[in-house]
Amino acid sequence: MKISIKNKSFRADLLALGVSKGQLVSPLGREWDKKLGGLLSQIIKKEEFGKSGDTRVVTTAGQSGHVLLVGLGDLEKKPLENHQLLELLRRSAARAVKSGNRLRVKTVAIEDFDPLRKKIPAESRGQALAEGAVLAGYSFDLYKKPSSPKTVNEVAIVGDETARLTKGAGKGLIFAESTNGARDLINIPANDFTPRRMVAEAKKLAKLPGLSVKALSKAEIEKLGMGCYLAVSAGSVEPPCFLHIVYRPKGRSKKRIAVIGKGVTFDSGGLSLKTAQSMETMKDDMSGSAAMLFVMKALASLKPNVEVHGFAAMTENMPSGSAVKPGDIVRSMNGKTVEILNTDAEGRLTLADAVCYAQKQKPDLMIDVATLTGACVIALGDLCSGILGNNQALIDDLIAAGKSAGEKIWQMPLIDEYRDELKSTFADLKNIGGRWGGTINGALFIQEFVDPKIPWAHIDIAGPSWTEREQDLGPRGGTGHIVRTLLEFLTKA
Ligand code: BES
Ligand code: ZN
Ligand code: ZN
Repeated sequence: MKISIKNKSFRADLLALGVSKGQLVSPLGREWDKKLGGLLSQIIKKEEFGKSGDTRVVTTAGQSGHVLLVGLGDLEKKPLENHQLLELLRRSAARAVKSGNRLRVKTVAIEDFDPLRKKIPAESRGQALAEGAVLAGYSFDLYKKPSSPKTVNEVAIVGDETARLTKGAGKGLIFAESTNGARDLINIPANDFTPRRMVAEAKKLAKLPGLSVKALSKAEIEKLGMGCYLAVSAGSVEPPCFLHIVYRPKGRSKKRIAVIGKGVTFDSGGLSLKTAQSMETMKDDMSGSAAMLFVMKALASLKPNVEVHGFAAMTENMPSGSAVKPGDIVRSMNGKTVEILNTDAEGRLTLADAVCYAQKQKPDLMIDVATLTGACVIALGDLCSGILGNNQALIDDLIAAGKSAGEKIWQMPLIDEYRDELKSTFADLKNIGGRWGGTINGALFIQEFVDPKIPWAHIDIAGPSWTEREQDLGPRGGTGHIVRTLLEFLTKA
């Protein structure tokens, strides 16, 4: 998708104009209304048009192809916070692109809504509009011909702060394309998306400026003593592979940050087998690693002044004659022994060793992102991630980055008392906790491997990594959730 900034003389197949409180919000809209003999204001009045989320196509014989009225809601009544206005921009652009595709047109123009110019800097407006447009334009077409192919290939933002809108739109394009890249990897089924395939995808990044890619083989993983991780992969015919991707800025970096993504390319549960239904979407259990990969890729273009290390312990979780069995005891890279009582709590096992490995790089802070627990989906639903960690400032920064990025993250407590339930009769730890508070127990398990001196945050993305229904900013399937939050965080760090 091409994103451009144009002035008001640009003619697109579809022009999106904002409406609020019964009025077109910008001079451009009022100009078009005049040109169309008051048709737009008539429609707005007659249909009481303007609620947030409303759209209405008006076909204008000859003049421009079509006009799309976009309802922005009452912007004064209950003043929206900045992050809500950004989301309004994303969704307005998304609706414009969707209407364009429905109308089978190629170019869509969207005005830089006048009332928001006073509230949001031009760069952020450009970014949000570009993000909404590119996210809404996504479809996953690798395995079947789309029933209605996407036709929109250019979105123009019509405004006069050209330089700043252009800068923001460029950033928005990268944020959204990275999200779409992660969506693709999540949506590719596990028969094609194996640990090996992930390595191939990662190796594509090695030629980008500032990036280097290392892939550790099973033999190397064994040598490092990553017994927890190896136990998860034991049942699979697909060999595990541990990825370490590094972004180094040109100048001196301010900080070294580790991002670890859970990379289970299929989670059957192992011998603690899942039900058929709960396995249906378990190809998405590598969403954390997909986010990590596309964050790393984006850094080569965004060039922030921080050193970032991305890690992913890629594996399948399968039952077989060679699979790890409930009751088995394994040794992690840092020497702690773990009794594996439930082979479906495999994410924390892969992360335990990944955290140990990441800490060898002496990061200033560490973030892991993982589709870790069904309990998190029960607690927060499918639109919100859970965050837990050992450092409140880091957690606050990530939640704030999520707000700006339009991704919801809610903090849950790391309750120390629950650690008792992770104690095993036969080993240092067991991989499951008590009956309740599953998300907390998962985080507490990972924390057992974290050096308490390193600020660490764990983001459980089990809910929002996948959507069962089409949303404004994307179709059913993998969502690429957390990519934009991480990019926002890393470019501000
Ligand atoms: N990958 C799942 C978590 C998950 C569930 C992600 C639903 C997305 C949607 C994870 O490996 C898992 O199975 N966790 C278990 C842990 C339990 C055995 C302690 C769970 O949540 O049931
Ligand atoms: Zn599992
Ligand atoms: Zn899992």
